[in-house]
Amino acid sequence: MAERPIIEIKNLSKRYKGSDEPALKDITLDIYPLEIFGLLGPNGAGKTTTISILCGLFAPTGGEIMIDGFNLHNELDQIKQVIGVVPQDVALYPTLTALENLVFFGNMYGLKGKYLKDLIMDRMNVFGLERFAKKKISSFSGGMKRRVNLIAGLLHDPKILFLDEPTAGIDVQSKVVILEFLQEINQKGTTIIYTSHYMEEAENLCSRVSIMDRGTIVSTGNPKELVADHPEFKNLENLYLYLTGKGLRD
Ligand SMILES: Nc1ncnc2c1ncn2[C@@H]1O[C@H](COP(=O)(O)OP(=O)(O)O)[C@@H](O)[C@H]1O
Ligand SMILES: [Mg+2]
Repeated sequence: MAERPIIEIKNLSKRYKGSDEPALKDITLDIYPLEIFGLLGPNGAGKTTTISILCGLFAPTGGEIMIDGFNLHNELDQIKQVIGVVPQDVALYPTLTALENLVFFGNMYGLKGKYLKDLIMDRMNVFGLERFAKKKISSFSGGMKRRVNLIAGLLHDPKILFLDEPTAGIDVQSKVVILEFLQEINQKGTTIIYTSHYMEEAENLCSRVSIMDRGTIVSTGNPKELVADHPEFKNLENLYLYLTGKGLRD
């Protein structure tokens, strides 16, 4: 790929206060515009730590990160204008309705009034939630909450979207709606970085993946090419299990 990466990660490391083992050890990775990039790995691999650092939630211990031409170290404000974040844990107020929650997030991004309400209703419609706009979040299923969370991270049409395990532990219907939507916005111009431990999903969805384990990247590439490079494994899941081992992590 000749074009300039939209995300450049150089020698990234992270050690949490009080831990002996670093959570990330010397991660170097380039992500290109319009990729759907998968960060894959077992529990504790460092996926959430990586995403959290990339979206400015906390600082790395070492390394350099450029996002859309801005340095994360001193240009976080500019970076915040171009990124959207969908955390793994649902970040919604349970006692407010879906609409109230989304208006709150929209206001945070500087969106307001009828424009914002129309936008929210349009997105609720896309995600099959239009009938539930005025229902409290506390009455929603896990998959429904995840869909609202996704809408919240996307209201400002970010150029780059980070999602942490958007499809973990949800019903198949929600999963399909979410994955189709991600493909659609990717085709319209959004670069997507997402974490998962579902190999089949990543194999179908991602332009490239990095398989992480214990704070390092053990392999990066187009999932079909990675599998083709290892003819002894018939799919990404088998290769993944070979690279990360079959031992349980928690
Ligand atoms: N706030 C924290 N304080 C100390 N250690 C942490 C913290 N968050 C994560 N870790 C540790 O960092 C490592 C990577 O965690 P994480 O990034 O959450 O992995 P993943 O998202 O791939 O499951 C794990 O060993 C985890 O226990
Ligand atoms: Mg995680």
